[in-house]
Amino acid sequence: MSTKWFNQARYGMFVHWGPYSVAARGEWIMNREKIPVAEYTEKYARAWRAENYDPASWARLAREGGMKYIVLTTRHHDGFALWDSETTGFNAARMGPGRDLLPEFVAAARAEGLHVGFYYSVADWTHPDYPDAFARDWPESWPDENARKRFVGFYKAQLRELFTRYGKIDMLWYDGCLPAPTDGDEVNAFVKSLQPDLLINNRNGGSWDFHCCEQTVNPAPPGIDWEACMTLNGTWGYHAGDDNWKSARTIVQLLTETAAGAGNLLLNVGPKPDGTIQEPCQAIIREAGAWLFRNREFLPESTRAPFAWCTSGRLTTRANTVYLHLFYSPGREFSLAEIGNRVLSARWLDGGAPVDFHQLDDGRLIFNSLPVPLPDPLASVIAIEVEGEPRALRQRTTFWIPQ
Ligand code: GLC
Repeated sequence: MSTKWFNQARYGMFVHWGPYSVAARGEWIMNREKIPVAEYTEKYARAWRAENYDPASWARLAREGGMKYIVLTTRHHDGFALWDSETTGFNAARMGPGRDLLPEFVAAARAEGLHVGFYYSVADWTHPDYPDAFARDWPESWPDENARKRFVGFYKAQLRELFTRYGKIDMLWYDGCLPAPTDGDEVNAFVKSLQPDLLINNRNGGSWDFHCCEQTVNPAPPGIDWEACMTLNGTWGYHAGDDNWKSARTIVQLLTETAAGAGNLLLNVGPKPDGTIQEPCQAIIREAGAWLFRNREFLPESTRAPFAWCTSGRLTTRANTVYLHLFYSPGREFSLAEIGNRVLSARWLDGGAPVDFHQLDDGRLIFNSLPVPLPDPLASVIAIEVEGEPRALRQRTTFWIPQ
């Protein structure tokens, strides 16, 4: 499977939106608060209006944020389908919003030039064959093989709908593939027969295309494409009380961290039940996006940087260029003792002005006239062109200090 677009993109928007958004306490409430299905249906699914649903505004925000793809929860663990499914009445066309929410979403994403992903939870707390909606964590096993088989048939039928009705979809983002077994090998092969170019994450076993890690940046081993997903505050689904926002600076730093490992960042937003995205969340995404528009060059198809940590920022690599992302001013003078190649040139990524440097025989790269303060409050980036593929000056020995 070609993962080229995925590696070119490096940054995407995750959207968690469903009946739980009405409750405004995150997406796990049915299980966490032991809310009976009938009560959940009444209070949240039926009450959900999605009255200001405007996926064009989400897609625009993603584009302005510098994101290149968008992944929507087509159904979360509550089992509520955001489309008009034949397999269940527990869906947005027949309850709550009263319409299939996906066609507009896909069209809006395409209109902004974004790749499109469908998040899909295999776990389904409201399906009669699902073992236990109210387990403390996840149910451990399928007590009844017939029920399990029926359930696999059911979710396969839902995936058939998702991947035959909305044109080409670029990504299937599985979640909650529990309890095992969920027959991921068979189901993935089936889904790929419908959409041969689809990229599938590794959460349902079988054959997959990229690895994902959650709320942490944990690069997969070399040769494996990967993505880290993160919340912008502390919650995936809308939580009215959670104002623990990451700053635009933190987002920029995260992007350099994922880029340095040749991975992607999938940053989450949890729209309000009406469909609008909270102001602070929009502002942070736009601020980080404005930085990215000034400095994007380091990102597409970034490679695994062979370097260790740096006291004032982080190094990323792409082809024959090393990018020094300065998060904090090192003062006027700074010695970078990481690059093992001869350095050909150095320039500010934003604007392209040359940066004075000289390289000593011991390999140190000396900058001695850096501006104080640095020009960019989020991160000032120096693009350092080197001879050949970037190499580390010092080889890794005993341990690697995590960055
Ligand atoms: C977890 C949670 C879920 C969230 C997901 C995002 O698996 O169960 O609520 O959607 O992570 O990665």
